[in-house]
Amino acid sequence: MSARERIVSGMRPTGPLHLGHYFGVLDNWIKMQSAFDCFFFVADWHALTSEYADPKRIKGFVPSLVKDWISAGIDPEKCVVYQQSQIKAHAELHLYLSMVTPLGWLERNPTYKEVKQELVQKDLNTYGFLGYPVLMAADILIYRPQGVPVGQDQLPHLELTREMARRFNHLYGDFFPEPRAELTPAAKCPGLDGRKMSKSYGNSIYLSEPMDEVRPKVMSMLTDTNRLRKSDPGDPEVCNLYPYHVLLTDEAKREEIQKGCRDASWGCVDCKKLLLEGLDRFLTPMHERRAALDANPSLVADILAAGNAKARVEAEATVAAVRELIGFDF
Ligand code: TRP
Repeated sequence: MSARERIVSGMRPTGPLHLGHYFGVLDNWIKMQSAFDCFFFVADWHALTSEYADPKRIKGFVPSLVKDWISAGIDPEKCVVYQQSQIKAHAELHLYLSMVTPLGWLERNPTYKEVKQELVQKDLNTYGFLGYPVLMAADILIYRPQGVPVGQDQLPHLELTREMARRFNHLYGDFFPEPRAELTPAAKCPGLDGRKMSKSYGNSIYLSEPMDEVRPKVMSMLTDTNRLRKSDPGDPEVCNLYPYHVLLTDEAKREEIQKGCRDASWGCVDCKKLLLEGLDRFLTPMHERRAALDANPSLVADILAAGNAKARVEAEATVAAVRELIGFDF
């Protein structure tokens, strides 16, 4: 047994990752993998809760999500990278937890109400969608971790996870530690138009996007809309571009930009070119790592197979203990 704290987190395979995912979640995972025992998984069953009518696409999204992770710097030598649906014990623990979870907890879940309203084009009046937090609690509790890195939007789910752990412990004996949320700082990377970066807004830069496609996107960005001519002073505080410099440009250079923008000695085109250099430094190594993964088609499958085997051992052990606790160790 290692003395390091254990961390569990997952992402749904619903499409390519963009800079918002990187600066919101992935860079946190990448930092954590050196300090904790990390279990990072592809939540493909969770993708099914909303994509059940057209599930075929999930199959392709699973390996591409793993490619996004690895090319961004997730190292399968340092952490366990695996696929939820390949660890059947998650489903069994989900079943036991579903027995002890009051319906009211799920019906009152704010995320449930919100997402259902947002995705009106999909019929989410299903048992699986209502039970999303129960499956998520099983994903987490099955590894008995101390922490779960998630975004703000997942906090109600984490609270439900802890409530399920408490209820289980109360009914069957003290077994599950209550994991704490490791809150990832609020989205630091807005979309190209200043709104939240999101696939559905068409305002994203993807981690796998070639520089040739990134360049025109950046060059056509709106900056400080009050600054009509280069001779007008600008304000980085209201500029759509500047937040990207905060993420990708070093501090000394940023001070120069601030000053040059405010005294109109530095123009938006210069600023965009500088940002493109930063994006090139940031994305090109990822693209190289991705090309190496693409060149060896079995690599991702091998990584998942090795991770699945490690995760399965842990998950099976937990479920065996749970069966015993509830008298289902036949
Ligand atoms: N619900 C999470 C999301 O949409 C994904 C997820 C599923 C997850 N199971 C998890 C995250 C367990 C952390 C731990 O982002």
